[in-house]
Amino acid sequence: MFLLLVFLVAVLPVNTEGGKIIWGTESKPHSRPYMAYIHFYDSKLVPRSCGGFLVGEDIVMTAAHCYGSRMIVTLGAHNIQERKNTQVIHVYEAKPHEDFNSETLVNDIMLLKLEHKAQLNSVVKTIALPKSHDWVKPGQVCTVAGWGILPNCTSPNALQEVKQEVQNGQKCYARSKNYNDSIQLCVGNPNDRKSTSEGDSGGPLVCDGVAQGIVSFRFCPYTPPRVFTRISSFILWLQKSMKQLQQP
Ligand SMILES: *[C@@H]1O[C@H](CO)[C@@H](O)[C@H](O)[C@H]1NC(C)=O
Ligand SMILES: *[C@@H]1O[C@H](CO)[C@@H](O)[C@H](O)[C@H]1NC(C)=O
Repeated sequence: MFLLLVFLVAVLPVNTEGGKIIWGTESKPHSRPYMAYIHFYDSKLVPRSCGGFLVGEDIVMTAAHCYGSRMIVTLGAHNIQERKNTQVIHVYEAKPHEDFNSETLVNDIMLLKLEHKAQLNSVVKTIALPKSHDWVKPGQVCTVAGWGILPNCTSPNALQEVKQEVQNGQKCYARSKNYNDSIQLCVGNPNDRKSTSEGDSGGPLVCDGVAQGIVSFRFCPYTPPRVFTRISSFILWLQKSMKQLQQP
């Protein structure tokens, strides 16, 4: 994850998150059965990882900046070093948003079609997506989970999670004029040390059991809030893309 950070800082105006949770707590094992751990290689063949979440039997949602080669998804994991109960499935096709901009990071959303369907069970389940009129409001408290780096710069084996308060979009707009509240969410109280970190990218922001956001990027300096993709603004794109991926 640290390699990822250095790489991204070198090429992006903002810092995408590799996948870590800062000052969170370990999740209760398998309490988030939709969580996916995604391993891939970036364009420089550096191994990287992201979070993601199962939205269909053979479809994982994540951030478009998590696109890479030789993508492999692990489902049913808590401790990522343990293979018990896990399903490791190669990605058959990756579909990043056509208008994803790797500089401003708008439209940071991607679907991954798996080589075969996951076997749904007590530790592997899909999560609900929002309706297009769902609008997450400032003040709402949601949860984000990931295997990203810890404050002491080590990578946890066990899934971590943290509660995050949705902020008024103005707070993110004040930090970057590229922030667009109609397609992004501004998340994380600036007075709070708790937040996501590198490696948490692609993971879901879950509000009342629904995946409303995707971990996208943080501003420099790294204090909260962070920017998440607002999933409810992409429902039409999702329907169209799911249909395309379902074709044989
Ligand atoms: C880093 O922090 C985690 C969580 O607090 C702890 O379990 C781990 O032992 C720490 N690792 C090192 C090398 O300090
Ligand atoms: C925000 O995003 C919407 C949807 O993509 C777009 O129509 C609008 O022009 C964007 N606003 C700005 C200021 O870029």
